[in-house]
Amino acid sequence: MTVRRSVMLGCGSYLPSRILTNADLARTVDTSDEWIVQRTGIHERHIAAPGETTSHMAVHAARAALSHARVDAQSIDLIVLATSTPDNTFPASAVSVQADLGITHGAAFDLQAVCSGFVFALAAADGLLRSGAFSRALVIGAETFSRILDWTDRGTCVLFGDGAGAVVLDAQELAGTRKDRGILTVRLRSDGRHKSKLYVDGGPSSTGTVGHLRMEGREVFRHAVAMITDVVEEAFKATGTTVADVDWFIPHQANKRIIDGSAHKLGIAPGKIVTTVDRHGNTSSASIPLALADAVADRRIKRDDLLLFEAMGGGFTWGAALVRW
Ligand code: UT7
Repeated sequence: MTVRRSVMLGCGSYLPSRILTNADLARTVDTSDEWIVQRTGIHERHIAAPGETTSHMAVHAARAALSHARVDAQSIDLIVLATSTPDNTFPASAVSVQADLGITHGAAFDLQAVCSGFVFALAAADGLLRSGAFSRALVIGAETFSRILDWTDRGTCVLFGDGAGAVVLDAQELAGTRKDRGILTVRLRSDGRHKSKLYVDGGPSSTGTVGHLRMEGREVFRHAVAMITDVVEEAFKATGTTVADVDWFIPHQANKRIIDGSAHKLGIAPGKIVTTVDRHGNTSSASIPLALADAVADRRIKRDDLLLFEAMGGGFTWGAALVRW
């Protein structure tokens, strides 16, 4: 008997050209390169140009992923775009991506789970592909957090950056074992009791404004490692795999201390961690596909490698996925 799996055919990413360094930030808020590097591991981040929107970046990343996968845009019948910074309140930025790619069939929608958005979007696309409703998907994480930051708040404005990453998922009939390529499992969690620890103080139905990001950083930090390791253990259990089977750990890139702490608690060797937070900052839902594309481009990741994705963010939401490349 075979099972329907979502196989990753390729990936791609996009970063805006403008780089904002810690030294640049130290000129506008009371911070220092030393503080930012020591507390977060971030050295620099990319910032979208005026007029450069989330959907623009998403289209660049999507085209790169299609080219890497060697498939035509017309073969895509599902687009799931994870973002908390859409171009407009509606319609979904995913439909702009669809139109820019010249696709008029299938379906496209946005999904909002803040920094866990890419993992949630993978789960949504995987479920829709495995159900037989769709056959080939673009899953994208794209963000312009620079537009919702309070640039006078040193506790948050130093942490985030802009960017986009995408993968192509293809529904294939495979043996149904953990040796299969593709998504082996995605585990999702959320707990709204923590909703006020990381939020945006605006929105269409509350203030009628876009608002700014607010975070109790220490509180988020306090929960992060335990939540991440918990959901990763769930993913191992669901697939009968162990940490020894993981070739590459591709975490959400919020803070190097959270990444290293989670890897240490899980028993993942430092050499297996893909880290981009130093160059990208926290790009929210874009961070995992950006890191994936980095490690695929420099050929660290090879076919049949087992990849472990995890993320945690506003809500709180958190999740993990095991994917054989
Ligand atoms: O992706 C979504 C999930 N988000 C996260 O995962 C973020 C989780 N949180 C964090 O990464 C960390 O909590 C931060 C990096 C945000 C902060 O690091 P921390 O070690 O938790 O520092 P803290 O908030 O406890 O602040 C320590 C001190 C404070 O000064 P006092 O009160 O001790 O005098 C802050 O005012 O550092 C001060 N501070 C800064 N100093 C220089 C806060 N931001 C800055 C800054 N530059 N940019």
